[in-house]
Amino acid sequence: MNPVVSVLFLFFLATLNNKVLSIRTVSSGTCDPTNQPDPLSFRWDQITVLINGYSEHRIPLLQSIAATYSASPLVSSVLVLWGNPSTPTEILSQLSRNLSLSSSLGTASIFLVRQSTSSLNARFIPRSSIRTHAVLICDDDVEIDRESFEFAFRVWQSNSDRLIGTFVRSHDVDLSRREWIYTVHPDKYSIVLTKFMILKSTYLWRYTCGGGAAMAETRRMVEEMRNCEDILMNFVVAEETNAGPVMVGAERVRDWGDARNENDHGGEGLGSRISEVGLSSRRGEHRKRRGRCIREFHRVLGRMPLRYSYGKVVDSVGEQGLCQKGAKLVFCDQYK
Ligand SMILES: *[C@@H]1O[C@H](CO)[C@@H](O)[C@H](O)[C@H]1NC(C)=O
Repeated sequence: MNPVVSVLFLFFLATLNNKVLSIRTVSSGTCDPTNQPDPLSFRWDQITVLINGYSEHRIPLLQSIAATYSASPLVSSVLVLWGNPSTPTEILSQLSRNLSLSSSLGTASIFLVRQSTSSLNARFIPRSSIRTHAVLICDDDVEIDRESFEFAFRVWQSNSDRLIGTFVRSHDVDLSRREWIYTVHPDKYSIVLTKFMILKSTYLWRYTCGGGAAMAETRRMVEEMRNCEDILMNFVVAEETNAGPVMVGAERVRDWGDARNENDHGGEGLGSRISEVGLSSRRGEHRKRRGRCIREFHRVLGRMPLRYSYGKVVDSVGEQGLCQKGAKLVFCDQYK
């Protein structure tokens, strides 16, 4: 095929895709404020769910997760962000049909969005279809029960500036090497993972469009390392709020483990199923890479905005609230 013909052919394919999948591509006007819907018109009582999809073999799980969210009256819409550019169109058309069938059974519509890039930054693009103040960012391999999801959303409603999540990690200082590291602490945390993260939709704008040259450089790092978009979002929100995230307990969480996190701890203390596939050396490698991200973000941004939080909010008999104690969040009964 000569080059002109093959370009036309690709263009034809792209056009076809657009029809079948109602793709919303990221336009160059993403950060143009006049393209944004007016936040005053956004709803507080519902949430938009953004599920990242990448692996074709996880499509059945993805469909079940999307259907669960779509059935909740608290969900405004579900966007499945497909980030794998090499998935055949035929599979995506089928998925799209399957998802619209699930949509018709639930209360919220499900849309399949084929990302024009595999960049991890794309999951934080402020999309004009988002018309709620709350956004749930999650992966296609984490199943959470509906009650816990709705509880987490209620926790967000009373802490709408904070990051809310169920999977947490920490930054720390390695004193001997005098450098920032990525780790897990038993009693505190400063990072929420995108396995399940609720945040205010304006933070998508801050991440994608704000922060000038330094933020642009950190977004480039995320793209190059194909990792750490979650850590960077934690930097963005901590910088804005000068506070750590809020961990919410979940009744039933299943973490099937994704390529980036399967060698990491998963939802410790949350009764989740932890993938045992990873070898400890790979887990160590994963942590090292994440530590490098923290150091690089710190270097480029010129400060360390991450703050620790303590305790988690749980929905149970004898429910414990979180109370502010100085700069810390503690269980209210410890506060007395
Ligand atoms: C769509 O649903 C059909 C019927 O349940 C199933 O066999 C198929 O694997 C699904 N395909 C995709 C891509 O979702």
